[in-house]
Amino acid sequence: MIKFNANKAYGFINEEAVKGYKQAVAEAQEALHNGTGKGNDFLGWLTLPTDLTDELLTDIENVAATLRRECEVVVVVGIGGSYLGAKAVIDALNNSFDWLQRDRKNPVVVYAGQNIGEDYLYELQEVLKGKRFGIVSISKSGTTTEPAIAFRMLKTQLEEQVGKEAAKDLIVCITDRSRGALRTLATQEGYKTFVIEDNVGGRFSVLTPVGLLPIAVAGFSIREFVNGARCMQEACGLGVEFENNLAAQYAAVRNELYRSGKKVEILVNFHPKLHYVSEWWKQLYGESEGKEGKGIFPASVDFTTDLHSMGQYIQDGERTLFETVISVETMEHEVRVPSNEANLDGLNFLAGRRVDEVNKMAELGTMLAHVDGGVPNLKITLPRLNEYYLGQLLYFFEKACGISGYILGVNPFDQPGVEAYKKNMFALLDKPGYEEASKAIKARI
Ligand code: PA5
Repeated sequence: MIKFNANKAYGFINEEAVKGYKQAVAEAQEALHNGTGKGNDFLGWLTLPTDLTDELLTDIENVAATLRRECEVVVVVGIGGSYLGAKAVIDALNNSFDWLQRDRKNPVVVYAGQNIGEDYLYELQEVLKGKRFGIVSISKSGTTTEPAIAFRMLKTQLEEQVGKEAAKDLIVCITDRSRGALRTLATQEGYKTFVIEDNVGGRFSVLTPVGLLPIAVAGFSIREFVNGARCMQEACGLGVEFENNLAAQYAAVRNELYRSGKKVEILVNFHPKLHYVSEWWKQLYGESEGKEGKGIFPASVDFTTDLHSMGQYIQDGERTLFETVISVETMEHEVRVPSNEANLDGLNFLAGRRVDEVNKMAELGTMLAHVDGGVPNLKITLPRLNEYYLGQLLYFFEKACGISGYILGVNPFDQPGVEAYKKNMFALLDKPGYEEASKAIKARI
């Protein structure tokens, strides 16, 4: 089971004050589980782990097996909640040099539609030339501009490379049950589809086909991942008292830190594989809590790499920060520091010791230094980096986010703020229907 420890925050906030959130947490839990709070039409994620049927998991595994058999590369097309969960899990589990391995058993999973970089798309198209590739196109609304542009290009390229009929079997769409352009197109073309239910928002969708299909394509066990999430669903359930409920405790501590003036939470890892877990977490908390002029700003660093860039600020800069460290107990591989006769670098005192011991001491030393520097530290410990514990971790963060958002008093399940840039972009691009907005915005520049 993953663990949560807030001891290194209690010099900054009072443990009793955190316990004082028990009532607010209980109310938030009730509101989530009884569907009486804000955004209650988006609570499908709460029971996703136990709602997932064997039939759906088998269907996902079968489609993944076909793509794995037929493709050297699978392009996952999506943005925000429609790609971050899959990338977080795949990167955390994959060999760090996956694409360089010659005897690979799995297709390389790459991503598109998460930006509008022209060079990115050009380079992707170039690298896919002559390759057997497939596409998993993901958009809940089915109308998001970035993935729609990428899908248009990739679909055309695939059809040119293998013909329209063969392309059909290499394209899978994950979208709304009945609405949106992607649903219409998939129906017209006869693509295999999976559904994102109305009551699951993008950033809470990793335990739907949105996350599960790409994870299965990459060769990882979605059953283990779901089992981990099921375990956490139970461990953070409605009836679980505060003292044993990790999600409730994390939600309470971070709210008390926020109230005490700690406005920025930095998610810290000591393993580069976890970089995208942080990216997923930033979307989850940023989009859920950052509204109505409120909310902790979610940031992230990869240590020890970023100790050589951001370390100075965290140690000594504005004291509005707290850190949440994701610590991994046991490594999958063993590497020891070699001995060296000349010992010019003076590192023979480490000879024969595990590299992970050095990393763990860097982790501990950093935590103590940052606490000394005025940065409260929270710690989440994963026994290992595998599907099961990642399932636990992601569900834990989701549950804590729901509770935390309700304690903060916002609707954690909407994202009205993300429309502003889209309106401006469409007005600037003269989209039909935006004539007045076009005139108005052009007058400002
Ligand atoms: O969490 C969210 O709702 C958003 O980040 C969406 O996932 C993102 O905007 C992509 O939307 P869609 O899946 O409709 O293309």
